[in-house]
This record gives sequence, C-alpha cells and structure tokens, in this order.
Amino acid sequence: MYQPKPSGLTPHDRKLIEVATYLARIAIERHQIQAEKKATEAYNARLFNEVKQAEIDLRQNKAFLEAQRESSLDGILVVSHNYEINYYNQRYLDIWKIPPELQNARDDRSMLTYLMHQMVEPDAFLKEILSLYEHINESSHYELHLKDNRVIEKTSSPVNSSDGAYWGRIWYFRDITNRKRSETAIKQKSQALEQALEELQQAQLQIVQSEKMSTLGSLVAGVAHEINNPLGCIVGNIKAVEDYSKDMLGAIALYEHKFPHPGTEVQEKLEGFDLEYLREDLPKLVSSMQDAGNRIKSISKSISTFSRADNNQKQEFNLHEGIESTMLILRHRLKANQHRPAIEVVTDYENLPAINCFPGQLNQVFMNILANAIDALDESNQGRDWAEIKTNPNRITIRTRVESEAVKISIADNGKGMSEEVKAKIFEHLFTTKPVGEGTGLGLAIARQIVVEKHGGIIKVNSKWGEGTEFIITLPI
Ligand SMILES: Nc1ncnc2c1ncn2[C@@H]1O[C@H](COP(=O)(O)OP(=O)(O)O)[C@@H](O)[C@H]1O
Ligand SMILES: [Mg+2]
Repeated sequence: MYQPKPSGLTPHDRKLIEVATYLARIAIERHQIQAEKKATEAYNARLFNEVKQAEIDLRQNKAFLEAQRESSLDGILVVSHNYEINYYNQRYLDIWKIPPELQNARDDRSMLTYLMHQMVEPDAFLKEILSLYEHINESSHYELHLKDNRVIEKTSSPVNSSDGAYWGRIWYFRDITNRKRSETAIKQKSQALEQALEELQQAQLQIVQSEKMSTLGSLVAGVAHEINNPLGCIVGNIKAVEDYSKDMLGAIALYEHKFPHPGTEVQEKLEGFDLEYLREDLPKLVSSMQDAGNRIKSISKSISTFSRADNNQKQEFNLHEGIESTMLILRHRLKANQHRPAIEVVTDYENLPAINCFPGQLNQVFMNILANAIDALDESNQGRDWAEIKTNPNRITIRTRVESEAVKISIADNGKGMSEEVKAKIFEHLFTTKPVGEGTGLGLAIARQIVVEKHGGIIKVNSKWGEGTEFIITLPI
C-alpha cells in the first residue's frame, strides 16, 4: 500500500521541480520572443510600405518638378553652394545656345565666361555676380542686353535649407526681346502722337492768330486808310479856313470903318449874328478843330502801327510805339464806366533800342496781356463800390528795361491774381477761367508762341491770388 512520506521532498524531487520551472520559463520566454518577432515583422512591413510610398511620392514630385521646369518659359539654372552646376533646363540651353561640351562640364566658371561673351556689357554682369557671391542671401533682377540684340530678363534668388543654410542659387532667364520691341514701338508711337498733337495745336494757334490778325489788321488798316484821305482834306484845309476867315473879318472891319452907316438892312443882318462874338470865337473854333484833326491823325497812325501787316518779315521796331498804340486801341476799356473809375496806367519806360521783330505779332501779345489785365481788374471790382475802388484804384503798370542783350517788358496789374493751379495752366491751349463767350483760352497760348517760338524770347508770370499779376517778357536785342 502506498504511503506518502510524512515529511519534505527528496533531493531528486527538488531537482525535478527546478527543471520543470526552468522549462516553463523557457517556454514563456520563447513565447514572448515570438510575439516580439511578430510585432517587429509587422512594424518592418509597415515601414517598408511607407518607405515605398514615400519613394513613389518622391519620384512623382520629382517628375512633376522636372516637367514644370522643362515646360517653363524661363531658362532655369541652379548652381550649388560650391559653384557646381546642379541643374539646368532645356530652355536655358536654348536661350544661351550652350554647346554640348559645356553642357556636360557642369563647371560654373566656364559657363559664366560663355554667357558673358554674348553680352553687350559683360563687366556690369560680372560685377553683379561678384556682388551676389559676397551677399549670398540677396536676390537680383535686371535686364541683360545681348550682342545679337536680344534682351534677357534675369532673376536670381538664393536657395536655403529650412534652417537657413545656403544651398545654392537659382537663376531664371526670360527672353523679353519681343515685349521690349513692342514697348519701344508703343513708346515711339505715343511720342510721335504727342508731338503731332503739339504741332497741330501750334498750327491751330498760328492759324487762329494770323486769321485774327489779318482780319482785324486789314479791317482797321482799311478803316485808317479810308479815314486818312478825308482827314487829310480837313486838316489840310483848316489853315485855309483860318486864313480866309481872317481875311473876311478884316474886310468886314474895313467896311465898318469906311461905311459906319450902311443902312438898316445891313445893320439888321449884322445884329442878327453877334459879329463881335463871332470875331472872338472863330479863331478858337478853328484852332480846336485843328487840334481834333491832329488827334484823329495820331489815332489813325496808331491804328496803322498796331495792325502792321508784317507776317513775313522781321523789321526794326520801337516797342514803346507798339505798347502805346495798343493802349490807344484799348482806351475805351480803360476809361471810367458806370461800375468803376478809369483804370490808372503808369508807365516807366527806359530808353529802348529798336529791336528786330514782327511788330504786329508783338502788338498782339501786348493786346492779349493788357486785355487780360483789364479783365482781372474788372473781376476784382466785383463786390466793391465806386468809393472803395477809388481809395485803392485799379492800376496797370508797364515797365521797360534793357538788361544784358535783352529787352524786358513788365506788365503788372493789381487785379484778382491767380491761384497756383490756374497759374500752372495759363499758357495751355484753350485754358480759360472765364465764362463761355468771354474767354477763348487762346490769348496767352498765342502770346507764348509769339514770344518764345517766333522771337526766341521768354515769357514769365508772377501772380498771387488776391494781389495781382505781372507778366514779364524778355526779348533778345
Ligand atoms: N492778369 C491776369 N490776372 C489773373 N488771371 C489771369 C491774368 N491773365 C490771364 N489770367 C488767367 O489765364 C487764363 C488764360 O488767359 P488767356 O489765355 O488770355 O485766355 P482767356 O483770356 O480767353 O481766358 C484766364 O482765363 C485767366 O484765368
Ligand atoms: Mg485773354
């Protein structure tokens, strides 16, 4: 019969237990290792897939990039930080006509030399390159002109890693020859158009001016001429009238003396017209007729001076005569009217030499400036009553000077003046601040043309809003 031992394990038992435990641990470890191996295998497989996918992505990106670079209109060149050529596209080779041996060399220096040979200003390009070597983080952009007349737009930027390390430089080259050509053509066209417009305006001014001058000129010259003949008759005969009347009065006095009693019929006739008064008044009357006749003569002379038909030839002319005759033509506008007292005209003339000019045209200039001055004075009078104007009278001051081979004529008014905006535009064709029907905007454009273009002179303006205006004309002697 089996009887368990009452106490403890035999050494043999203990050994057995030890072995069993050992075996169990090994089994467990093996299991663990197998589990780990499985996990590692799965991880590796995943990793492998990811790498594979990344490789596919990379290849795809590269293909896209490549396609992009190759289809670009720009020639692209990439140079690494150690000046090795890293990449270029076909367009780059085409633009710069790079030969095959150079394509393979990949050497930045020989490439650069090859490019520079084609440039009109290689030194400037080299300077730019050297500067970029020094300032590696700078970008640059400019136009290169090639000896074969092409124009290449060049852009260059640094390529940096995300942490800022310099990896190299990328260059873009674009052939902009056609664009430049059309830009130049457009610029030339618009310049030509501007020029044509300017010429047209000048021609128009000239036509307007000569038209006006010839109409006005021939009109007044005709009137003056027509007046001259009868006037000559009147003035010429006044002397005879004076002599005849003296003779007649002398004869009457003699009759009176010889026949103190001529009879009632003669007595009544003599009493009928106050012979004594007639004797006194007739010489005065004749004399004032003489004065008036002389005045008409001088007016007529001024009119002829003003309207001298001199469009073809320059002639010696005394400018004071021109200014005075112009003032005479404008006399009716200077005179007092119901709104204001007469405009004061102050002249300060220096002894001027006669100058070689177109007198009729210069008179036109004086006329335009003086007429504007009168307009400006009339405008400044608005809102002021007669007494106010009287205390601060309307005045035009005309000053002439000789200065270093030139004559200076200043015509100033104390009228309304001009704002800076108006002042900047007054010589422009058709610029006017006056109401329709009053201003043509041609007066000063014509004046400028006559002074500057026809006489090689200068016309300047000084003006202050509310204070007045001065025009200064300088004419070479
Ligand atoms: N003496 C002046 N004072 C103030 N403004 C003036 C004077 N002269 C010219 N101007 C300004 O210049 C403009 C152009 O003058 P102008 O060419 O003679 O044309 P218009 O007299 O027909 O307006 C005028 O409309 C006026 O505004
Ligand atoms: Mg005018």
